[in-house]
Amino acid sequence: MLREVLRRLIRPRGADWLSIAPRTTRASGAEGLETWTPQRRPDRRAEDDLSWLMPPRTMIDPYAWDKYWRDQITHGVADWVDMFCDDDQLVDAMRSSRFQTVLCVGSGLSLEPLALAAAGFDVTVLDLSPFATEAVQGITPTKEHLRRLLGGQSLLTNGRLEFKVGDLRDARFCPGPFDVVIERRTLQLYPQQDRPQALQAVANRLAPRGIFVSHAHDSRWRPPAPPTHACESWFAAQGWPRWQPDAPVTGRVAWLVVSTG
Ligand SMILES: C[S@@+](CC[C@H](N)C(=O)[O-])C[C@H]1O[C@@H](n2cnc3c(N)ncnc32)[C@H](O)[C@@H]1O
Repeated sequence: MLREVLRRLIRPRGADWLSIAPRTTRASGAEGLETWTPQRRPDRRAEDDLSWLMPPRTMIDPYAWDKYWRDQITHGVADWVDMFCDDDQLVDAMRSSRFQTVLCVGSGLSLEPLALAAAGFDVTVLDLSPFATEAVQGITPTKEHLRRLLGGQSLLTNGRLEFKVGDLRDARFCPGPFDVVIERRTLQLYPQQDRPQALQAVANRLAPRGIFVSHAHDSRWRPPAPPTHACESWFAAQGWPRWQPDAPVTGRVAWLVVSTG
C-alpha cells in the first residue's frame, strides 16, 4: 500500500521504460542473472518492508548492489533513478566547450549515459554492479524519453558507449582522461573516512580542462536551512572553482548539484 502511494507520488510522468525486461543472457561478470525471476505478487508483510529502498552500506560488494537493483526492478521503481536528471545545461556547456568524452561512475540503471551518447558524446560507464551494467545495456528507451533526460536537447548521431564493471577506486578501470566526469548520489555513500580517496580517484580521471559533476541528495533537508552537499567540503578544501553558467571552462571546475525530498 505504502509502496503504491510512494510510486504514485514520485513516479515521473511517462517514464515507463522498465516495462522493457532486462536481458537474461549471461555477460561477463553478470553471474546469477539467469537465476533471477521477478516476484509476481509480494505478500502483505513484504509490501510493508521498505528496506529494499535503502542502498546497501557497502561500496565494495558487487552482489549487494546487484540485489539492490534487482529489488528496484521487482518493485517497479527502477526508473526513479533518473528522477533528478536534466542534462540541458550540461549538454550546452559540453557543446560550447567542445567536450566529447564523459565518464559516468556509479550510474547503475540510469539511462543518463544512453541519453548523453544519443546527444553525440562518447560515454564510458563504470559501475560495481555486474547486474545493473548488463541490464542497462538491454534497455532501448524511446527518443522522447532520452530527450526528456537531456532537458529537450537535440539528439545527434550516436556517440560511443562503453560499459565497465569495476571499483571506481581502482585506477586501472577507465583511467581517462575524460572531459566530463559525472557521479550522482554515489560518492556521498562512502563513509567519511573513505570519501576523500573515492573523490580523488574520480577526479584523477578528469582532464586538465573539464567538469566534475557531483550530485548529492540531501534527504534530511528541512527548511529554513539550506540543503547540503555531502562532498562540498572536499571540493572547497581542494580549491576547486565552481562551474559558472555561460563562463568558458578554462581548467577543472566542479559542478555541484543537490537534490532534496
Ligand atoms: C545509490 S546508487 C546511485 C545510482 C544513480 N547514480 C543515482 O543517482 O540514483 C550507487 C551506484 O554506485 C555503484 N557503486 C557502488 N560502489 C561502487 C564502486 N566502488 N565503484 C563503482 N560503482 C559503485 C552501485 O552499483 C550503484 O549503481
